[in-house]
Amino acid sequence: MTERIVNPDYVAEPEKMNVKKGLDGAVIDTTSISKVTPDTSSLVYRGYPVQELAENCKFEEVAYLLYNGELPTKAQLAEFEKTERGYREITKANLEVIRMLPKKCHPMDSIRTGVSFLGCEDTRIWDKTSNLDKAMMMLSKIPTMVAADYRFKKGLDFIPPNPNLSFAENFFHMCFGKVPDAKVVRAFDVSLTLYAEHSFNASTFTTRVVTSTESDIYSATVAGIGALKGPLHGGANEQVMHMMIEIADPAKAEQWMKDALAQKRKVMGFGHRVYRYGDSRVPTMKKYAQVMADVTGEQKWMKMYDALEKTMVAAKKIHPNLDFPAGPAYYMMGFEIDFFTPIFVMARTTGWSAHVIEQANNNRIIRPLSEYIGAPERHVKPMSER
Ligand code: COA
Repeated sequence: MTERIVNPDYVAEPEKMNVKKGLDGAVIDTTSISKVTPDTSSLVYRGYPVQELAENCKFEEVAYLLYNGELPTKAQLAEFEKTERGYREITKANLEVIRMLPKKCHPMDSIRTGVSFLGCEDTRIWDKTSNLDKAMMMLSKIPTMVAADYRFKKGLDFIPPNPNLSFAENFFHMCFGKVPDAKVVRAFDVSLTLYAEHSFNASTFTTRVVTSTESDIYSATVAGIGALKGPLHGGANEQVMHMMIEIADPAKAEQWMKDALAQKRKVMGFGHRVYRYGDSRVPTMKKYAQVMADVTGEQKWMKMYDALEKTMVAAKKIHPNLDFPAGPAYYMMGFEIDFFTPIFVMARTTGWSAHVIEQANNNRIIRPLSEYIGAPERHVKPMSER
């Protein structure tokens, strides 16, 4: 018989476990970074409603708020922007790593690799007291890496960051070599605020799990990028646009949706684990997607948006999530579809880092249980008897 160390209070037949598939409804820690209230479809960052932040602040202020807990004063914002702009350049070696990646690899794989390389370059990797500084470095350098990948994939030269431009303006500059109309920059900036943070979503939870082992912030961010890439999470903003292109004509949207539901297809950009009556971020993002339609003069996507939403809500009472308006908004800004989720990374790195810092400052390793449903206990037979 196998030797064992047995708890004297051991009960041979434990009661069936209460499995929370997908951690549905499980509250696993406290946080003071953000709160989602499903009944009122509300989301607050550090107490501030996200819609108010999007309409009244620029993304840099929101990043400061997430990292520091308070909105910045004028002087604090100036200092923060100086640091952010000062960190934008990446090393030649990092640029070369991005240049050498296979042209066909997904930009999410490029940015995952770029952040991993950034961790290799930082000699303070194990020092958690420098996490805020590392968070600032990622905030500043991730857009440079994403834009470099954007240019290399098109066979174009790298455009270095411009420290005289805001975070949003600089990204357009590095991708396209010019800064568009202020309305376009504003729509983009709003999307970054809306994407910045969302409590214990799958990728943020991933970063917290990695941090809970006392691993480093770069490893946590790399893991977060991996989780965000999936189409059930951040990858949905790309799938929304592929779907809209597949539908092609707003007049066909209603029937397309009915067919998709009849085939029990998951329609990207709809539904949410926590929100049941709609996603608090959607009205603001829809407003700015409409701004993009007006700027470009292309109303097709917004007409399709309305037809898809109406049909889905009538049939299943399932509402759009943020990825639904963000997809066409980014498309109308001129970005390639497979760069939509890397843009999400540029924003969400702020929320991830805030959670990494919170987890590291009050840590207990995250280690849930599972109910075993495999073979009952059996014993190893010698090879000749198997
Ligand atoms: N399209 C079609 N049906 C959907 C749906 C969608 N987008 N989202 C949910 N449903 C259906 C489910 O299939 C399920 O149906 P069933 O009871 O017949 O099995 C029912 O609605 C309830 O699903 P729910 O428990 O709310 O889903 P979840 O919490 O397991 O998953 C998502 C949440 C977000 C992963 C899911 O809604 C989804 O896959 N959405 C599309 C991807 C997406 O937009 N992701 C971005 C999220 S911000």
